Amino acid sequence: MPSILSHQVLDGCDVRCRFCNLWAKGLKPREALSVAEIDAMLEDGRALGLRTYVIYGGEPLMRDDIGEILQVSKRRGYQTIMCSSSGRLLERVDEIGPFIDLFLCSIDGSPETHDHMRNAPGLFERVLEGLRALQRYPGEIRFWTHLHKRNAHEVESIAKIAEQLDVSVDFFPTHSAGRGANSLVLPDAERIAAFDAVLTAKGSGLPIRTHEEVLVADRDDTPFKCTWPAEAVYVTPDGEVYPCERVYTDPEHRLGNVRDEGLARIIASEAFQRYAKELERCNACRLPCVMEVSRGSAAQERRRQAEQADVDRHAEARAPR
Ligand SMILES: C[S@@+](CC[C@H](N)C(=O)[O-])C[C@H]1O[C@@H](n2cnc3c(N)ncnc32)[C@H](O)[C@@H]1O
Ligand code: SF4
Ligand code: SF4
Repeated sequence: MPSILSHQVLDGCDVRCRFCNLWAKGLKPREALSVAEIDAMLEDGRALGLRTYVIYGGEPLMRDDIGEILQVSKRRGYQTIMCSSSGRLLERVDEIGPFIDLFLCSIDGSPETHDHMRNAPGLFERVLEGLRALQRYPGEIRFWTHLHKRNAHEVESIAKIAEQLDVSVDFFPTHSAGRGANSLVLPDAERIAAFDAVLTAKGSGLPIRTHEEVLVADRDDTPFKCTWPAEAVYVTPDGEVYPCERVYTDPEHRLGNVRDEGLARIIASEAFQRYAKELERCNACRLPCVMEVSRGSAAQERRRQAEQADVDRHAEARAPR
């Protein structure tokens, strides 16, 4: 059974990042779920055992009612996570601060690199001001930094910015996502050097949160069994449900709409289970949340197998000869 509700709360965005395919797709904004509809979805989700609500977009801070959405999530008892570009954080901080457990702030490098990659002069400084304001609240703050040709040499300086701010950072590789991103993806040798630099920086005590095992797998581009589609339900702004946001949002992979049928029916559907199995080999992204969930599942599977082997060994020893 899944435990995560991953919700793209709107399509809109206030920047035009060079690596993101969202704005480049030129999607017509979809009629987003209202707060009441989100509340009903979250209520259903709790009854089904969902525990974590991940909010992103587009840029989630562009929703006028984002504070209400967060309040509803906390009231329903969810661990509440938001991923944001954070240009509007300072102006929204008191609406969201009290209700956030984990704030994932996208940081793409030094101030110059960040503003260049996000096509937004002055953004980096504005983001840092917002983060300092958010630190008045108890939630955890973490940078999300994907590494590509334009920022791979800045690993240590990014980690030091995180350290100075007293937050942590997750590093991960840029994935192919259309023209902008594809030309930025690191070739093998550069990716290996970049993740070696992350491992060295982590070894030196800088606040890099990504697990060493994941960093080594990212460095070596080791295939992994993706359990995200089994562990998470992905909901679009207008309530459509798909196995995963990155690649499978086509009519063939549509699982339903929370406006028409409850999450219970969608999760119990044959299609949900089938895609969870089929997409295990996808490997089209290596986002930190995906890698962490997949690592947890792999560790659980290893424990289960070791326990089973133990049971088998004992049964064999007890068997009459
Ligand atoms: C799609 S954004 C949505 C939330 C918000 N707009 C933001 O930028 O944080 C979620 C995360 O995906 C990252 N991202 C976007 N395009 C990417 C790519 N091609 N490869 C890796 N990460 C990417 C962003 O930097 C961000 O951390
Ligand atoms: S990465 Fe985030 S902020 Fe940048 S264009 Fe995509 S959705 Fe917008
Ligand atoms: S690896 Fe594939 S299936 Fe798994 S989360 Fe990424 S895009 Fe989705």
